[in-house]
Amino acid sequence: MTSSDTTWFTDARFGLFVHWGLYALPARHEWMQKREEIHPDDYARYADYFDPDRFDPVAWAEEAWNAGMRYTVITTKHHEGFALWDSTVTEFKATNTPAGRDLLREFVDAFRARGFRIGLYHSLIDWHHPEFPVDCIHPMHANEEFKAKEAGRDITAYADCLHAQVRELLTGYGRIDILWFDFSYAGRPNAWGGKGKDDWRSEELLAMARELQPGILVNDRLDVPGDFTTPEQFQPSGPLLQDGSPVVWEACQTINGSWGYDRDNRAFKSPELLVRMLIDGVSKGGNLLLNVGPNGRGDLDPASVERLRAVADWMALHERAVRGAGPSTHPAPADCRYTQRGNRLYLHLFTWPLRHVHLAGLAGKVAYAQLLHDASEVRFQERDDSDSAHSNLEDPTLAALGHTVTLTLPDHRPDAVVPVVEIFLRD
Ligand code: GLC
Repeated sequence: MTSSDTTWFTDARFGLFVHWGLYALPARHEWMQKREEIHPDDYARYADYFDPDRFDPVAWAEEAWNAGMRYTVITTKHHEGFALWDSTVTEFKATNTPAGRDLLREFVDAFRARGFRIGLYHSLIDWHHPEFPVDCIHPMHANEEFKAKEAGRDITAYADCLHAQVRELLTGYGRIDILWFDFSYAGRPNAWGGKGKDDWRSEELLAMARELQPGILVNDRLDVPGDFTTPEQFQPSGPLLQDGSPVVWEACQTINGSWGYDRDNRAFKSPELLVRMLIDGVSKGGNLLLNVGPNGRGDLDPASVERLRAVADWMALHERAVRGAGPSTHPAPADCRYTQRGNRLYLHLFTWPLRHVHLAGLAGKVAYAQLLHDASEVRFQERDDSDSAHSNLEDPTLAALGHTVTLTLPDHRPDAVVPVVEIFLRD
């Protein structure tokens, strides 16, 4: 499936997703236009009030870098159709708002200068475009009068505009590392007017992307295979495979269930859960693209910043357990995840054990072990538990592990959202 080199991507492991558009103003989910069935002309009035006077992409980049993110993907245009840059093929754009300038350029410049790889999200869907045919997910899907009046819409004319916009994005902003399309829905059950590769002319789009930006990684939502696959708001239960071989994947996750700024939604994931999601992904060979939805003044909301900083605290001491790491072939103990980088095996303890952790399959293989956050030695013993010789009681679970390495951990849990033991394997 992959035709570009994905090494930098799987090495980075952690990226920042940014959903920022006019929906930041209604501040009740980026799908509010559809949910509330708002006519595109009525929705467009938000452009008159879009004035992000506090937009500071240098500060965003700093927060994300400290959290350990090394690439970013920003919405150039979401389903609402509003362009964050000065597109020549639409008037519905940042330059025609009180902001009065190309916000995408400022974002890209700031993040690139900080050292990030740059990704652009681009919606294949466009609820503002006059030639985008009204379908089951269009805000006007239930308005018979509108549908009758707009029955002659021509997807080819829309696709020309889509291609022109992608060309602008891939020629006007220097090197682009990721193109993140969203999304195709041809042939979905109960979906009428669903759209896919024939509508977007996906093969042509993909060829253009590869020609304009050799080495670019394109996701898998064009309804044709891409360079990586994108589980959304869930963690796969193990490495993702195609024909038995692992594929490159990236879970995209929100902090509070909404992608765009959502004022009244306070269902924030805890820092611990966010760190676990990152570890869980890496232990299964995947990346995490964690989203923020800045508000209409251009600020990241305090709850997101607080969480990014908590992730940063963990990252400061545990980065090498995820960056450049991947799955291990060893079976992890209960309530734990393993990641591995060369001969370093990382044991991530999702719950703090009762003094001992038994590691199956590692007998004879461990040279040294330490808690990662403070490099304090973790002592271990190797023993054959298959005959339960150390006890008069039978412990069938332990016996099944056979010859184990048993770590002895302190009673007090280290002050880290997820404590990690670094295990040096013998060569
Ligand atoms: C979806 C949604 C959307 C979000 C995206 C992120 O498909 O339409 O609002 O931007 O997923 O993966």
